[in-house]
Amino acid sequence: MVSFKSAATAALVFCAVPCTAVNLEINATGGNVSSPWFWGIMHEDINNSGDGGIYAELIANRAFQGSAKFPSNLSSWSGINSATLTLKKLPTPLSSALPSSVNVAGTGKIGLTNAGYWGIEVKEQKYTGSFYVKGSYNGSFTASLQSALGEKEVFGSVEVASKSVADTWTQHKFVLVPSKAAKNSNNTFSITFDASATEAGALDFNLISLFPPTYNNRPNGLRPDLVEAFKALKPRWLRLPGGNMLMGNTIDSWWKWNETIGDLKDRPGMAGVWEYQLTTGMGLVEYMEWADDLELEVILGVWSGLSLDGDHLTEATIGGAVQHALDEMEFLTGDANTTKWGAVRASLGHPKPWKVRYVEIGNEDWLAGRPTAYDAYKNYRLPAFIKAFREKYPKVELIASPSVFDNMTIPAGVAGDWHPYLTPDKMVLAFNKFDQLSSDNVTLIGEAASTHPNGGIGWDGPLMANPWWGGSVGEAVFLIGAERAADKVIGACYAPGLRNLNRWQWGMTLVQHAADTSLTTLSTSWHVWKLLGRDPLKKTLPVSGGGINPLYYVAGEGEKGESIFKASVYNSTAPVPVSLKFEKKHSQATLTLLTGPEDPYGFNDPFTRVNVVKETKTDLKPTADGAFEFSLPALSVAVLKAEK
Ligand SMILES: *[C@@H]1O[C@H](CO)[C@@H](O)[C@H](O)[C@H]1NC(C)=O
Ligand SMILES: *[C@@H]1O[C@H](CO)[C@@H](O)[C@H](O)[C@H]1NC(C)=O
Ligand SMILES: *[C@@H]1O[C@H](CO)[C@@H](O)[C@H](O)[C@H]1NC(C)=O
Ligand SMILES: *[C@@H]1O[C@H](CO)[C@@H](O)[C@H](O)[C@H]1NC(C)=O
Ligand SMILES: *[C@@H]1O[C@H](CO)[C@@H](O)[C@H](O)[C@H]1NC(C)=O
Ligand SMILES: *[C@@H]1O[C@H](CO)[C@@H](O)[C@H](O)[C@H]1NC(C)=O
Ligand SMILES: *[C@@H]1O[C@H](CO)[C@@H](O)[C@H](O)[C@H]1NC(C)=O
Ligand SMILES: *[C@@H]1O[C@H](CO)[C@@H](O)[C@H](O)[C@H]1NC(C)=O
Ligand SMILES: *[C@@H]1O[C@H](CO)[C@@H](O)[C@H](O)[C@H]1NC(C)=O
Ligand SMILES: *[C@@H]1O[C@H](CO)[C@@H](O)[C@H](O)[C@H]1NC(C)=O
Ligand SMILES: *[C@@H]1O[C@H](CO)[C@@H](O)[C@H](O)[C@H]1NC(C)=O
Repeated sequence: MVSFKSAATAALVFCAVPCTAVNLEINATGGNVSSPWFWGIMHEDINNSGDGGIYAELIANRAFQGSAKFPSNLSSWSGINSATLTLKKLPTPLSSALPSSVNVAGTGKIGLTNAGYWGIEVKEQKYTGSFYVKGSYNGSFTASLQSALGEKEVFGSVEVASKSVADTWTQHKFVLVPSKAAKNSNNTFSITFDASATEAGALDFNLISLFPPTYNNRPNGLRPDLVEAFKALKPRWLRLPGGNMLMGNTIDSWWKWNETIGDLKDRPGMAGVWEYQLTTGMGLVEYMEWADDLELEVILGVWSGLSLDGDHLTEATIGGAVQHALDEMEFLTGDANTTKWGAVRASLGHPKPWKVRYVEIGNEDWLAGRPTAYDAYKNYRLPAFIKAFREKYPKVELIASPSVFDNMTIPAGVAGDWHPYLTPDKMVLAFNKFDQLSSDNVTLIGEAASTHPNGGIGWDGPLMANPWWGGSVGEAVFLIGAERAADKVIGACYAPGLRNLNRWQWGMTLVQHAADTSLTTLSTSWHVWKLLGRDPLKKTLPVSGGGINPLYYVAGEGEKGESIFKASVYNSTAPVPVSLKFEKKHSQATLTLLTGPEDPYGFNDPFTRVNVVKETKTDLKPTADGAFEFSLPALSVAVLKAEK
């Protein structure tokens, strides 16, 4: 076990005696071709990272969606002036998917206010809103954004002429541009009206929505700063729609793709697995648009008939889940004119079929309900999917949700998925693990992170509250090990990606956020994954000369033919001098080095906004005999790139 404290302290002391340099020679040929999809993103709506996170909707509980687990309620809403808000299930609901609505009754000027997802950021920008209303009213509505504090200063408002009538629901749309930005995100959104000009002294409202500008200006789109945070990592793929969320809590509450598409009024939402109801406003099409915007391959997770409570479909009923997945494939990739689901996709504005290269059957099927559910996966659940996909979509590459590292014998031609959440020491000890793989058992690293401190007591021990520098360096060593074997490792991804600062327990996330975009925090791990991911290797190159530990490295050729060396020093009491000789001659190289805080447990704290990761770039010239020489401190991560 590494004691970070001693490692870091010692790192400040330069070798009293000259340290032995690691002399490496890198051949120009003879390596293995890497997976071109090595770096990726995995996202699911975990603790308000979708709703209230990357999904840009600002109104919380916008359509009073509910489920058996989370009954519909009026949370996040309050009345204005004499207004009484009542949750109702009307005989004429807005839609069968959205049976509940709010009745706003009172006298004079009344209305309703939404608190947002722990506030609403107000800037001088265009907000696009809409709401449905029912009840005869010939006046106008006022939609406004104001402070929740003190005098409740109004930053912007707009009048919306009523088209509302007695017996049907009418949608009203508006654009709101505040004339002033708010100082903080403690703001609310309101709609008011004149109750005396209504027939019944009341109106019914539903599906009240407000969006700030979105990434690529997509309607119903994503939060630009958070998409940018992922884009900067140069990912190549997106695994969707997540992990546990796909499975659902119970056998009848999984993520049904067909209920996440189309008009928002036709999406019922679902009971999420992270203790809240999901809107599914961020549905299958929104995930695909995200992939389009960042030019990502998708790894489509399909439900394998297992829920988190361990319940699973029988051999007689698994066919239903298989058909559901085949329909999803047809929706995504089927011809718009000749297939049923392809035509539905076209009707939603996407006539051109998407490409789906990878399909993953389930999520962590080795875990919930084991051993029975895992046996069922091996014996008939996975085989049923393999058979059906081989027949109908023979070109799709299939991934089983366990990997060989979960005691799974992967069927021929199928890949696995490994999810290590470990201590940094164990991340480092996994450096060579991928040597055990062959072309018969390739794997995805669909989720990975250092989560527990060294010396912790395993999974049930304390989780760290944030990605921390020592943990991030452990991840670097792990990733370098995986990239060395990137002919057998399809890709790697940090998980989870996002965390809302207002509601979480699982702290280790790549990026943390809140309504206030100035709180968006790029973790220490984000910096490490970004550095290692921005120069993907086209192929590895053989290295001779030096042992592994405390210097861990991989060498290879980049996508433009440049020579690349990625390295990390983990378990050292002193800096490690390195001398690199490339067989392919270079006149110059750039070394980018990441070092951390003196305290290896240091982390990027959203509330101080201090980035503890230091990045330095140095241009190096080769010595007379053609070597690039430099020194890497303990607990550091570096990439050397030679283009010329
Ligand atoms: C109230 O509704 C919201 C939005 O659907 C949901 O997230 C929350 O869990 C519900 N609260 C309770 C106590 O059920
Ligand atoms: C207002 O919002 C900020 C986040 O922008 C938060 O830090 C602060 O505590 C809030 N202030 C009050 C008075 O609620
Ligand atoms: C609004 O105007 C319509 C058409 O003139 C009328 O039928 C309706 O009664 C009016 N509603 C109210 C609440 O005044
Ligand atoms: C979606 O698919 C599931 C399973 O295939 C089915 O039970 C459900 O009724 C479908 N939902 C809708 C709205 O058609
Ligand atoms: C689908 O039909 C439309 C209109 O008939 C036609 O323009 C288009 O080329 C067809 N697409 C394919 C893929 O056949
Ligand atoms: C794999 O087998 C080992 C040794 O029998 C056991 O400790 C471990 O829990 C198993 N893992 C899974 C995922 O079944
Ligand atoms: C760290 O180095 C010590 C001493 O060489 C060794 O015993 C230990 O196994 C190493 N730990 C890791 C995770 O490499
Ligand atoms: C992967 O398959 C090879 C045979 O092709 C086998 O030798 C190896 O043990 C397998 N790896 C694991 C981790 O099971
Ligand atoms: C999500 O947040 C809730 C409330 O803070 C917490 O109870 C739950 O454990 C969290 N889940 C995760 C995975 O962080
Ligand atoms: C590197 O190339 C040299 C000379 O071409 C060769 O002798 C050596 O075996 C190669 N090393 C590796 C690790 O492939
Ligand atoms: C290429 O793959 C082989 C077989 O797995 C392995 O022994 C060798 O070390 C790899 N070469 C490089 C340069 O990564």
